[in-house]
Amino acid sequence: MLEQDIKRILYTNEQIVAEAKRLGQQLTADYEAKTPLLVGVLKGAVPFMAELIKHIDTHVELDFMVVSSYHGGVSSSGEVKIIKDVDTTIEGRHVIFVEDIIDTGRTLKYLRDMFEYRKAASIKIVTLIDKPEARVIDIQADYVGCQVPNEFLVGFGLDYDEKYRNLPYIGVLKEDVYNK
Ligand code: IMP
Ligand code: MG
Repeated sequence: MLEQDIKRILYTNEQIVAEAKRLGQQLTADYEAKTPLLVGVLKGAVPFMAELIKHIDTHVELDFMVVSSYHGGVSSSGEVKIIKDVDTTIEGRHVIFVEDIIDTGRTLKYLRDMFEYRKAASIKIVTLIDKPEARVIDIQADYVGCQVPNEFLVGFGLDYDEKYRNLPYIGVLKEDVYNK
């Protein structure tokens, strides 16, 4: 049903799970005995974070933020708004931001600056998808699942107008879906 709106599948569920496993194993090695705080950026990070934490074999804590930068369209508005903040005190914590995608880099730059101000002990970024060509701010993720070309993607958390987040894979939407 939903697959009829997809032009091309870029990453299958099996490929995504394999990347999550690889990143989870790296985080296990890098954060042993540090009890990092994983901060998921809602809503897009939910499927990736759920998969990733299954592969982390050391203690972690979870928290979430709601941030908005896209407003229903397919290109970034440039504006970042905090809609829901974390509940955890950040001072002294090893923070790992979990993102579905880094596009322009504005969202993560804003969040990283804010958590530096809050005196996190360390701040790292893990993202399922990196779109380096779309970057307007110089920020790199420390742990990257897949690098993709500058195309608008949906699935595994990524949305078009809040839809398609539930696809188990990542794909490119057909153009006629935008024009409906
Ligand atoms: P940035 O601040 O431009 O890096 O954008 C980050 C946010 O933009 C992500 O968390 C997504 O919600 C959204 N975004 C960027 N590229 C895409 C895409 O290809 N498909 C769906 N959402 C996207
Ligand atoms: Mg979005």
